[in-house]
Amino acid sequence: MRDVAIIGASQTKFGELWDVSFRDLVVEAGLKAIEDAGIVGDDLDAMYVGNMSAGLFVGQEHIASLIADHAGLTPIPCARVEAACASGGLALRNGIMAVASGFHDMVISAGVEKMTDIVDPTPAIATASDQEWEAQQGVTFPSLYAMMARRHMYEYGTTREQLAMFSVINHKNASKNPLAQYQNTITVDQVLNSSKVADPLTLLDCSPVTDGAAGVIICPAEDAKKYTDTPIYVKAAAQASGTIALHNRRDITTIDSSVNASRKAYKMAGVGPKDIDVAEVHDCFSINGILAIEDLGFVEKGKGGPAVEEGMTEMDGEIPVNPSGGLKARGHPLGATGIAQAAEIVKQLKGEAGKRQVNGAEIGMTHNIGGTGGTAVVHILSN
Ligand code: COA
Repeated sequence: MRDVAIIGASQTKFGELWDVSFRDLVVEAGLKAIEDAGIVGDDLDAMYVGNMSAGLFVGQEHIASLIADHAGLTPIPCARVEAACASGGLALRNGIMAVASGFHDMVISAGVEKMTDIVDPTPAIATASDQEWEAQQGVTFPSLYAMMARRHMYEYGTTREQLAMFSVINHKNASKNPLAQYQNTITVDQVLNSSKVADPLTLLDCSPVTDGAAGVIICPAEDAKKYTDTPIYVKAAAQASGTIALHNRRDITTIDSSVNASRKAYKMAGVGPKDIDVAEVHDCFSINGILAIEDLGFVEKGKGGPAVEEGMTEMDGEIPVNPSGGLKARGHPLGATGIAQAAEIVKQLKGEAGKRQVNGAEIGMTHNIGGTGGTAVVHILSN
């Protein structure tokens, strides 16, 4: 297998983008990534696109062909990759595997979702849960995560305020990210007093409904310096699956797929949790931010709440988490999220993250999960 590097990365503005179509959004991300890598479209020899549900959100299937066509990239092979909210992470992993194996030499892995064109996105998002055991019983993602939050509070004494604090820190970071959906700062009181969505979670515990796209360009590490002085090296690309429904789990306060994917990733990269300088974690709801820092091994099980309260995950803390603003405030266009996380870590490791730069970051992690953890994808990158 060959070593692999990322030589270009991009993200579009995230938000409610009424004036941009699905196809224009992903092409914009692709062109920006190509420009960032200093290559031209003809240099690409394959494309992987993460997307959860263009069929339900914009009525378009066969998006791999649509994008290759609209981007002027035919006849290169293009494949859509789907693993719910982990579709982007999986598109990245597939691109990396294609280059590592020698199958392709220059690949774009992108992600896109346009969620705001339909009136009620909730049933579409709920298709990522178990239809028979969860969605058809009226359970949606906010309520699934609310159950996980309740249990975590019961088992470990995690407080409502500690959950809220995860959102507060995300919004603070997003206030320094011009591409984030929500760039306003918020307080714990505002989180607690925002409208109830699924008890104990309120509006400001939830990631929003978002349009957006992102892209990265991947090539063999030995070629990377031909294109950039600052390639970012892929140290690990790991994936694990878990039960799709909550009721089959040994414990609903641990996402086993996150644990398994991160342990594989640490092994591949030859590093441990203490070596990670910056992480983008999958905080689709505030509780999931706390589960993530526990499951990735940054803190002991059950200690995520106090760690957040004590500032461990702040920009100047022991392990800065979600400098981009995370899913909560940067936004969560499902299929694009895993690629946007990688684009943020690439920026951080290149020292190009501006006001939200984590000083001296050398090793970064991305953690992208699908559903409540049916899929988890973890990457470790280094400069
Ligand atoms: N964070 C902050 N503000 C939010 C927000 C969020 N998550 N969601 C909506 N808002 C704001 C809107 O900008 C709007 O503000 P305005 O009145 O100033 O324009 C206001 O709140 C109402 O927005 P609206 O779109 O009517 O909210 P909603 O009640 O329809 O949706 C949620 C709110 C939380 C239900 C929705 O964002 C949601 O479903 N989030 C979860 C998405 C999800 O499940 N993703 C997959 C995870 S696995």
